[in-house]
Amino acid sequence: MAASYGRVSAFSTSSHVLAGKKSANAIDESERRTFPSSSNLPPAGESKGPEYIQGDEGSHGARTLKSFSMAGKVCVVTGGARGLGNLMARALVESGCDKLAILDLDQDDASGSAKAMTEWIEGEEGGGVKAGTVDIRGFKCDVSNEDSVKKAFEEVKSAFGAPTTVVNSAGIVENFPALEYPTDRLQKLYAINVFGSHYVSREAAKHMISSSITGGSIILVASMSGSIVNIPQPQAPYNASKAAVKHLGACLAVEWAKHGIRVNTLSPGYMLTSLTQQMFDRNAEGKQLRKTWEGMIPMGKMGMPEDLKGAAVYLASDASRYTTGSDLIVDGGYTST
Ligand SMILES: NC(=O)c1ccc[n+]([C@@H]2O[C@H](COP(=O)([O-])OP(=O)(O)OC[C@H]3O[C@@H](n4cnc5c(N)ncnc54)[C@H](O)[C@@H]3O)[C@@H](O)[C@H]2O)c1
Repeated sequence: MAASYGRVSAFSTSSHVLAGKKSANAIDESERRTFPSSSNLPPAGESKGPEYIQGDEGSHGARTLKSFSMAGKVCVVTGGARGLGNLMARALVESGCDKLAILDLDQDDASGSAKAMTEWIEGEEGGGVKAGTVDIRGFKCDVSNEDSVKKAFEEVKSAFGAPTTVVNSAGIVENFPALEYPTDRLQKLYAINVFGSHYVSREAAKHMISSSITGGSIILVASMSGSIVNIPQPQAPYNASKAAVKHLGACLAVEWAKHGIRVNTLSPGYMLTSLTQQMFDRNAEGKQLRKTWEGMIPMGKMGMPEDLKGAAVYLASDASRYTTGSDLIVDGGYTST
């Protein structure tokens, strides 16, 4: 019987054998590098250059490049109620955005995550931003439905004004062998990943153009799967959909450059989310799958969702003002091998 992998979970209940140039043992242990211990790093205060900053996340008072600031931007993140979209939305707020719309399938999910994000940014963990400074709201939107996308963008415009920055993170992955892929699932996947990317980009651009927004940025979340074929899990339509998203982004970038709108794609590799963690924890096969994947990643580990923050803010902000039609891959080197 053909393995049925089901929504999002990837991962084979039948045995698959790795093939091709990569193998589970691709990492040569003698080539591993150890990061210097903190005792070997310069202590704060002794640095002759800009203030030495410890830690990777959160806000800080040290000198930093102004063009990375999201202050004054109106941001929209689809699929922002959870997962990578939620994390990228937080990164935009951490970088100064004070008007953020979270679009997701369910109104309660979208509103709930907006509330949670507001509490977080006003709390210690998010940087203790003064209460009421950041306005985050949730909007119901099904990106695969053109009317729903139009309605949500109208609502965002009424609430905040025209968007300057749109991240389309809504997307699904399913795993079935291509021979048995159910046609209705195939249509649904393309409707969300490909048609959704077009509907969201189009509404974003229409509003940016009609409101004479300068410096508009649209980021379509693609995947390294748009550049390579993942193994061992079978996911041909997902991979093809992400290749389509990548090329759609490049095409729109060329068409809309004259309007001052930049379009780029962001392609994550294997990210360790709560979803993937659960999958690994569930059974022995899950643990083996993680080992298999990590054996194929030159950096030897899956990415943390936080590893996307800098890339998202770069593409969203004026720091990337001469970057359009690009695909920024964040995959620990996977696609380079
Ligand atoms: N997680 C990874 O390792 C990974 C790797 C590469 C690319 N990606 C891509 O990143 C994006 C986000 O993935 P994730 O892991 O955060 O997934 P996730 O399932 O955790 O979150 C996806 C979000 O999108 C929403 N959504 C789904 N269908 C929607 C629709 N029709 N309209 C509006 N919202 C919808 C969901 O409700 C959810 O909030 C996807 O496009 C995915 O293909 C993820």
